[in-house]
Amino acid sequence: MKNKLFPTRSFFLLTVAILGICSAANAADVVHYSPIQKAWFLETGHTTYVVGVNENGELQNMYWGKKLTRDEDLAPAHSNPEWASFDSSATTTNLEYPGWGDRLYTEPSLKVTLADGVRDLVLKYDSQQIEGNTLRLKCKDIKYDLAVTLTYRVYPDEDIIRKSSTIENHTNQVVTLESAQSGVWYLPRNEQYRLTYAAGRWAGEDQLQQEPIRQGKVVLESRRGNTSHQLYPWFAIDKGGSDQQHGQVWFGALGWSGNWEMVVEETPMHQVRVTGGYNDFDFSYPLKPGEHLDTPDYYAGYSDSGFGGVSNSLYRLELNEILPDHEHPHVRPVLYNSWEATEFNVDEAGQKMLAEKAAKIGVERFVMDDGWFGARNNDHAGLGDWVVNRQKFPNGLGPLIQYVNQLGMDFGLWFEPEMVNPDSDLYRKHPDWAMNFPGRPRSEARNQLVLNMARDDVRDYVFNAMDKMLSENNVKFIKWDMNRHFSEPGWPEAPVAEQKEIWIKYVRNVYEIMDRLRQKHPGLEIESCSGGGGRVDLGVLERTDEVWTSDNTEALDRLKIQEGFTYAYSPKVMMAWVTDVPNFNGRSTPLKFRFLVAMQGSLGIGANLNKWSPEDSDLATKMISYYKSVRETVQMGSLYRLFSPREGEFTANEYVARDGKQAVVFAFLHSQQFRNPMPAVHLRGLDANAIYRVKTIDNKLVETHETYSGSYLMNHGVEFKLTGDYDSTAVTFERQ
Ligand code: GLA
Repeated sequence: MKNKLFPTRSFFLLTVAILGICSAANAADVVHYSPIQKAWFLETGHTTYVVGVNENGELQNMYWGKKLTRDEDLAPAHSNPEWASFDSSATTTNLEYPGWGDRLYTEPSLKVTLADGVRDLVLKYDSQQIEGNTLRLKCKDIKYDLAVTLTYRVYPDEDIIRKSSTIENHTNQVVTLESAQSGVWYLPRNEQYRLTYAAGRWAGEDQLQQEPIRQGKVVLESRRGNTSHQLYPWFAIDKGGSDQQHGQVWFGALGWSGNWEMVVEETPMHQVRVTGGYNDFDFSYPLKPGEHLDTPDYYAGYSDSGFGGVSNSLYRLELNEILPDHEHPHVRPVLYNSWEATEFNVDEAGQKMLAEKAAKIGVERFVMDDGWFGARNNDHAGLGDWVVNRQKFPNGLGPLIQYVNQLGMDFGLWFEPEMVNPDSDLYRKHPDWAMNFPGRPRSEARNQLVLNMARDDVRDYVFNAMDKMLSENNVKFIKWDMNRHFSEPGWPEAPVAEQKEIWIKYVRNVYEIMDRLRQKHPGLEIESCSGGGGRVDLGVLERTDEVWTSDNTEALDRLKIQEGFTYAYSPKVMMAWVTDVPNFNGRSTPLKFRFLVAMQGSLGIGANLNKWSPEDSDLATKMISYYKSVRETVQMGSLYRLFSPREGEFTANEYVARDGKQAVVFAFLHSQQFRNPMPAVHLRGLDANAIYRVKTIDNKLVETHETYSGSYLMNHGVEFKLTGDYDSTAVTFERQ
């Protein structure tokens, strides 16, 4: 769908750019240059972003927020004066991509050491290129031939802009990059802001945090080699009072699955700025003459309809522009995964038995998890040996896969490609392939070491091993896991000056394997998993179709995890399984409750179906069939959070289809206290004048008419008859 809106204008602007003519274009153009202000205007449906060249020749941010309708209202960019001798103009001016040099005391976008020892970088505007919805601004250092091209891509329908930078060394000596950021976003100055972000840990992902922004810095980051469950690469900043539908919110998200950082900084002049890109911790990237480095994609947007507006903008971006199927979106299949049922005890007969039961209740994809390869009987051995375990599968995987296919399901397989157990043939053959500093300890976690994926021979081994499995077996889906973080990240085979490139090259090679596998095996889908939700970001989502949200599948905990997850990531990619109780925290919720929680994302079943009673299977069949009738709305529609699980004993979420024809409300009572009456639930996003037909799954709606107007549903609201502990329901509203 790229450039779908303005093909002819793109062509015109490209011609203008090629001819080197700068013209004042119509203010409605997505990207246009205004010679009066010496500024570029990036326009989305509801927002404007302006960057200009100031009197010193520096690129300066001039505006980011709700749409401006007239270019000429804005004065040309002008630097701010210094504040006494202590805060320089470089610090008081909103430099669009500040190099560390001059008197810059705020977070730089780029910090370098030149071959002659100079550590001073002052970037000035050089040239521009406009190509459709993309703007490129080139700047150069005042003395050295070091150039940075800033690339902006505008997503008009989503109200989002993407930034990244390319740093090019045209000098004849090595330039060492010590911090390379994608860019910085500036909010309107002198406001009291509040930061919202998500933090967590294994099995406790996506816990929302909110705190006031004050002078100083808050650093959100990963130093662990992948995205991490500890902090998530997105932010939302509001003025304090925003809720799900009201309030101005500026937000951003990074697309990078390695060490990332976002520095939320309030300067002494009360300017809030959010720098983001590669983490500069343990960072050193030497650029040889002629080489360049691309920084991660850094997306950001503005919403004046609260956090709900933020989420729905990001969902549209993910679905329309980022996910591998964005050009031809399709709904996610209902999946069964064997992990919680069998753990490592997989074999042909056992998997077939589960597959048969899964197919009966309506599952569309059967996934065999860990345990099928090498000497993998527990987590002590086998990782790295991607060959079928012949004790468990004497005839290979063929008979199982054929059986699964005959049952009408496609087949998926678990891999943990980046890892090796010391007890494996791979490690015995190539101990040097594990990340290490020679002569120093190699810390194990879950009995495994991290392969140095930055090495091209390791990358090729992993690609070939996976490619072979996919070529020999009808595998349509890979669950790609990563169950520990980096430690001792040594790369002794590389020149010492280049060894820290491991942080970047590792991730690029992982991306490359995913891309090559997809290319070679059209139709292959991938789930990104890292011990649950440890690798969720807009970079991995370009090449994976869904993510495993959390190893914590306990339904009440999941309500909170899923709420945090869906602040930034679409329910379509949020895998949610129904599993057996009691869960790992000891809680037992009813099967219906577990289903309805999981049905708010991409539904999967992870229970041991052999233990289910006929009644359980009947209920599951009904719930899966109901899910199929609403999943397009859930996965591709808009989400309205009506009652938050963080704020009381009742949760309600509403999903509205893109075409407005269907809405579905999921409602959950966690635990009733004092026989509190149930609150009225006011739907949102409906057509006030339309009539909606009501379909309940279990008559738990107080309202008894067959139809209601949108105005009644939104203004009067409805009530649910939920009582006791873990009661739940779902209601569909079909527009007539
Ligand atoms: C991780 C995943 C689980 C499962 C196990 C297998 O913990 O998150 O879902 O695949 O690995 O070892």
